[in-house]
Amino acid sequence: MHFDCVIIGAGAAGMMCGAIAGKRGRSVVLIDHAQKPGEKIRISGGGRCNFTNLHCGPDNFISQNPHFCRSALARYSPYDFIDLVERYGISWLEKQAKLPPRGQNQHTPSTKGQLFCDGRSTQIVDMLVSECEAAGNQLWLSTQVFDIKQNETGRFTVTTGRQSLSCDSLVIACGGASIPKMGATSYGYKVAKSFDLNVIPTEPALVPLTFTDTLKDPLKALSGTSVYSRICHENPKGQSTEFEDALLFTHRGLSGPAILQISSYWQAGEAITLNLAPHISVFETLKSARESKPLQSPANWAAQYIPERLARMITSGLDYERLADMSDIALRNLALMISAWRVKPAGSEGFRTAEVTKGGVDTHALSSKTMEARTVKGLYFIGEVVDVTGHLGGHNFQWAWASGFAAGHNV
Ligand code: FDA
Repeated sequence: MHFDCVIIGAGAAGMMCGAIAGKRGRSVVLIDHAQKPGEKIRISGGGRCNFTNLHCGPDNFISQNPHFCRSALARYSPYDFIDLVERYGISWLEKQAKLPPRGQNQHTPSTKGQLFCDGRSTQIVDMLVSECEAAGNQLWLSTQVFDIKQNETGRFTVTTGRQSLSCDSLVIACGGASIPKMGATSYGYKVAKSFDLNVIPTEPALVPLTFTDTLKDPLKALSGTSVYSRICHENPKGQSTEFEDALLFTHRGLSGPAILQISSYWQAGEAITLNLAPHISVFETLKSARESKPLQSPANWAAQYIPERLARMITSGLDYERLADMSDIALRNLALMISAWRVKPAGSEGFRTAEVTKGGVDTHALSSKTMEARTVKGLYFIGEVVDVTGHLGGHNFQWAWASGFAAGHNV
């Protein structure tokens, strides 16, 4: 059985690629070992799929080759995907920031531009399946791929649990290694290596960080507390990265969007710095409170800016009952505990819960216009399997659509 194009992986990138290639008249089969296509789309965005981000650009991606994603992103923009979504009558909305409780940091979290389905994420899966069907694609689910070979004429033979296929173009769209329970595998990396393509070592990204045992017990009482924060990380070269968004204390460690974002930059053994009240100058505000409300307790003062449970925990070791009793040095120490709390996570929750995989097929080995391997004609890599990792907020799907679109026009 011969197809112009075989795509391994019927996820976000694979279905986009299949639909575009099919519309160009290519015969396409999508092969997936899962029982259903697009399972990660289904669970994404808390079931509402954050399908793109209006402000998506190269700066929202981590890669050894930061310019690689530029061309594909420019040729398929968030507005192109919105057009598709609207053609299917799927209503969507931009995420609105939840206002923090009265008195706490009054500002807007960085959720701007994040677009979600108004209904369910399965609408996006159904839309992509319809696009593939309309383009004449075949969809082989629950199908294992056992072997891939290329002969001297450049044709590929793909041996599957259903039957053997030959094709001129082979697209690897089988995603990253995160959440193996959902069918994620490292198969794409294995294929790349079998064709002598370099693979950048993979790591879990957009993942909660865990506390060391010494922090776990004292901070257990904070589990479930969320606070708008600025999280900063400095790598060994002195390059710093920071994100502002919600931070969530869990019984295992730290989570929430700000932590997930910084986790993509953090390496084992490194520290992160938490500013729990990023929109005030904590020391100056404390000093003027000591003048205006000298009888106020440090805990009550802090609870105006951070959640009360957190304020009580941070101030619990202080010997002062009133701000008036605190020297400038004592105020500065308290300010540092709130605005520059250095935490050394023990590790991350790993691929078990990571939203994405950092690293992957080395982009130096691929054409940024077509996603085709430079040294293996007809072999393409798209989506998360490639060493292009997006920030939280719809960027990973935008990369899946854009890279799928680029390959779909060339296979
Ligand atoms: P994807 O993982 O979508 O598809 C790969 C396909 O290949 C799967 O269908 C899999 O079954 C199949 N496959 C794997 N190995 C195979 C093998 N050996 N043989 C055959 N088939 C194989 N991103 C975003 O932008 N907005 C969001 O809201 C979210 N939310 C989110 C929540 C959660 C919980 C997770 C885990 C991830 C997200 N993401 C996200 C990330 C996003 O889901 C991810 O980046 C894209 O789905 C990647 O698209 P791909 O098509 O590359 O892989």
